[in-house]
This record gives sequence, structure tokens and C-alpha cells, in this order.
Amino acid sequence: MDKIEREILFNRIRAWVLDAGAIIREKIHDPRTISTKSNPKDLVTEMDRAVEFFFAKKIKTFYRDHLLLGEEGFGDSDINHTDTVWIIDPIDGTMNFVHQKQNFAISIGIYHQGVGEIGIIYDVMNNNLYSALRGNGAFKNDRKLPPLYHTKLTLNESIVCFSHRWLMKNKYIDETVMQQLVHDVRGVRSYGSAALDFARVAEGALDAYITMQLEPWDIAAGKIIVEEVGGIFTDIRGKQIGILERSSVVSAHPDIHEKLVQKYLKGAVK
Ligand code: IPD
Ligand code: CA
Ligand code: CA
Repeated sequence: MDKIEREILFNRIRAWVLDAGAIIREKIHDPRTISTKSNPKDLVTEMDRAVEFFFAKKIKTFYRDHLLLGEEGFGDSDINHTDTVWIIDPIDGTMNFVHQKQNFAISIGIYHQGVGEIGIIYDVMNNNLYSALRGNGAFKNDRKLPPLYHTKLTLNESIVCFSHRWLMKNKYIDETVMQQLVHDVRGVRSYGSAALDFARVAEGALDAYITMQLEPWDIAAGKIIVEEVGGIFTDIRGKQIGILERSSVVSAHPDIHEKLVQKYLKGAVK
């Protein structure tokens, strides 16, 4: 993909995401059909499917040689690193979408031959569009986000985000280490949309987001956007993430990532 093709694609996706968001806002108070997937807390609605279908149709019409890896089943079956792949979560934070009617996002990452080229996270109800084109920095709407390393930070001045479930006995991580982390940092938050949590790390509203198990569509856009502002994005052991795999994630300001991994997380993984 050359520079001009990339920019055309970037502008098109932004326009399509805004269109999809407008449809969601228009229908936000409509009655919902809610089903569960892997477990009773894993929700899906007709809107999740409709939004993914909206993008699947766009891809098949305008980019027939591109592949789709999506959460809701409209994607291609044979995904590999040699192609251009759209990795889409049509609604990230479905539980928030259903219960709160806010705090959810459309998340799209475009990878070409394994390299993240375009990341878009759209906070639909607040009409905030986070975006990044590889090498051009990241934006919140029209505002370029400053690199994170412009602000110095220590762990005890940090706000970190992770799910409360990691503070209880669980199969992924030693909860006592997570409890110590809560003690050592300035604040802890949990919002329920991985994509928006990555966007918050990129804009400096959170200093880290830690999570034990995410799917490619939760990660794809966030990785590009966080890395474009100089944030560090690894798995829980500090290793690189393979974008087509399920993974844990530690995404953080560069001043605290190493300490989070080395002092707390790495030794606590089960
Ligand atoms: C979920 C959200 C949530 C995270 C879950 C994801 P979904 O995505 O991002 O914050 O903790 O692991 O599955 O199901 O609402 O698209
Ligand atoms: Ca998700
Ligand atoms: Ca989803």
C-alpha cells in the first residue's frame, strides 16, 4: 500500500466510522435483542452484528482484496500476515452499550503484512474519534496528541486501569500482587471497554491499562494508537504481541511500563 492509498483509506474509514456511529446514536434507545456468547456476561446485540455487517459490506465493495477479522462472524476464515487485514470490534464494551448507553467504542485496526498501519477508536456517544496513521502520530478528533514521554512520571503518581476481577482469586494472576499494585499507585480505574482504555492511555488520561486476556479485535486499533504516542505495548511478561492471537496486554506510559512488568506482573502470572 503506498502513501496515497493509505491516506485515502484512512479518510474513508474515518468517514464510515462516523456514519456508523451516527446510526448507533440514532437507535440508542430502541428495544434491544440481547444474547449471550461464551458465558452469561459475554453479551451481543443485533447492533453489534449490524455494525460489523456495515463494514463487511464496505470492504467487499471497495477493497475486495482486503480481509476482515471481526468479532461477530462476518469475517474471512483464512487470515494471514501477507494480506491487508481489517481487525474490527463493531462495539467494544457491549455491556456498557446495553446497560449504560455510553462508554463503548467502534474499534478498527488495519494491518498490512503484519504491520499496523491505521488505528481508529470511536467513542460513539461522546463523538470523540481517536485515530493514528503509522508514522504520523495520533489524534483525538483534530488535535494531535503529544508524545507521552513529554511528561515525566513515577508509578506512585500513576492512575492504572484493570478489571476488579484480578483482585480476586483467578486463574491468570496472583491477586495479592495486584492488591499491592493498588496500594502503590495513585489511583485505579475500570471502565469496561478495552479500546477506550487504550485511547485513554494514549491521551494520558490513564497511565497504564493492564488486562489478562484480549482478542485481536480488542487490541488491534489500540496498539497502533498507543505506540504512535510513544506508549509501550506488550503482553504481561513484557513480550511483543502477535496481532492475530489472543493475548494479555500491558500498555503504559514509557516511564512506568518496565517497572509494572518487572516488579509486579511478570512474576505474578500463573
Ligand atoms: C470486552 C471489553 C471489556 C474487556 C473484555 C472484552 P466486548 O469487549 O473490551 O473491557 O474486559 O475482555 O471482551 O465483548 O464488549 O466487545
Ligand atoms: Ca471487545
Ligand atoms: Ca465487541
